[in-house]
Amino acid sequence: MTEHHNTTYGNGKGEGQPVGIALLGLGTVGAEVFRLLNEYNADFTQRVGGPVEVRGVAVSDASKAREGIAPELLTEDAHALIQREDVDVVVEVIGGIDYPRELVLAALRAGKSVVTANKALVAAHADELAKAADEAGVDLYFEAAVAAAIPVVGMLRRSLAGDKIQRISGIVNGTTNFILDAMETTGASYEDALAEATRLGYAEADPTADVEGHDAASKAAILASLGFHTRVTFDDVHCEGISAITAEDIQAANQAGYSIKLLAICERLTGEDGKESVNARVHPTLVPKEHPLASVSKSFNAIFVEAEAAGSLMFYGNGAGGNPTASAVLGDVVGASRNKVHGGRAPEENTYANLPVADFGQTQTRYHIDMQVKDRTGVLAVISSVFAEQGVSLRTVRQEEGKDGARLIVVTHAATESVLDGIVRALEGLDDVHAVNSVIRLS
Ligand code: NDP
Ligand code: HSE
Repeated sequence: MTEHHNTTYGNGKGEGQPVGIALLGLGTVGAEVFRLLNEYNADFTQRVGGPVEVRGVAVSDASKAREGIAPELLTEDAHALIQREDVDVVVEVIGGIDYPRELVLAALRAGKSVVTANKALVAAHADELAKAADEAGVDLYFEAAVAAAIPVVGMLRRSLAGDKIQRISGIVNGTTNFILDAMETTGASYEDALAEATRLGYAEADPTADVEGHDAASKAAILASLGFHTRVTFDDVHCEGISAITAEDIQAANQAGYSIKLLAICERLTGEDGKESVNARVHPTLVPKEHPLASVSKSFNAIFVEAEAAGSLMFYGNGAGGNPTASAVLGDVVGASRNKVHGGRAPEENTYANLPVADFGQTQTRYHIDMQVKDRTGVLAVISSVFAEQGVSLRTVRQEEGKDGARLIVVTHAATESVLDGIVRALEGLDDVHAVNSVIRLS
């Protein structure tokens, strides 16, 4: 069989030359990246075409004892490590936005390729980072930034580059899926499930990013940008988390045949004038039990892609944790290192389509509204009229005896978000409605 990997283009170091790695961060992800870089080193040499050598590891506290790592490799000066002449590829697994932005820009401008798992950074500063990588002619890889081990970034960048993506949706945050799954299947409390997800290394350094949906929103921004060839940033994504979801919501959903999942949904929309726009949003969603997303348990992620020619594709796998994330990081390290040895660059992100981001209010959705109402004749007619006035029809209505009056659970047919939101405001103002307990969208 012919081996092609000896080819070296103009800007390659040449077959057999070592590739120097600067590892920034040695936490949940960095420690696994370091361990596997050593364990698979002989294989990586073959795959890359030259030895892959770690030059140093930046941490916040170099005096802390670390198992399996020579103390002389550790440094608190990440900037100096990046600038070393024998460093070719910088791996950023520190987290946060401002400091890693500084480091990644410095690395790219110094001609180093960068691999990062940092979705918050990429979703906030993608244009600036891509420009710096282009100007320096180096690679910027971020496979691990979305859904950890699931190779969805590479799939959108390469495999589906010849298709037209209509929709990308799914579960992209392991921590919140772990929490919702534990609350539903074992009756665990929200607090206990979050503590366990943190202990297992799934949660962000500040888990607010997980539970308030920010982490999933960053991932949605990245997926939408890649899928629609349009820059979508974190600020463009409508974002609601799971911190308001109660055990009662989960029980009610369960009784009605649904699981509650935090979904990221990225859609291409076509207006009445034929003009296209895009939309990206993250919110808790009721998923019918028979839908494949309902059975995605623990910290697993699953992503559906609908493309015009390919049809529907589903990707499933480990969405968080040190080991699965290290797999994605190391795939990128091998790619970036190979390009350093043989020359050439990875496929770039292309935002040529530059579609407008549609207002969230225009999104079509369906609501599941759980409310506490007066237990008197005619209440149902009053409530129904609020929907009818806005031209929204009801799919199901369920009434139960409540502690204080009756509990009414209504599922609507599809309408725009702004109309449905207006209906909820109107319901809250009715004398007959004691409280709107929860409003959850349906998939
Ligand atoms: P951790 O908090 O576990 O680790 C962070 C590491 O960065 C630590 O080693 C820490 O040093 C180091 N660090 C912090 N500040 C500095 C600094 N100023 N200079 C140098 N080093 C510093 O984070 P994770 O490993 O969980 O996450 C890292 C990145 O990977 C984040 O962007 C996260 O979003 C992303 N990611 C995480 C996943 C996961 O499942 N955990 C999955 C996918 C992506 P020290 O050891 O001294 O404290
Ligand atoms: N905190 C993230 C999650 C890590 O729970 O999904 C993986 O990106």
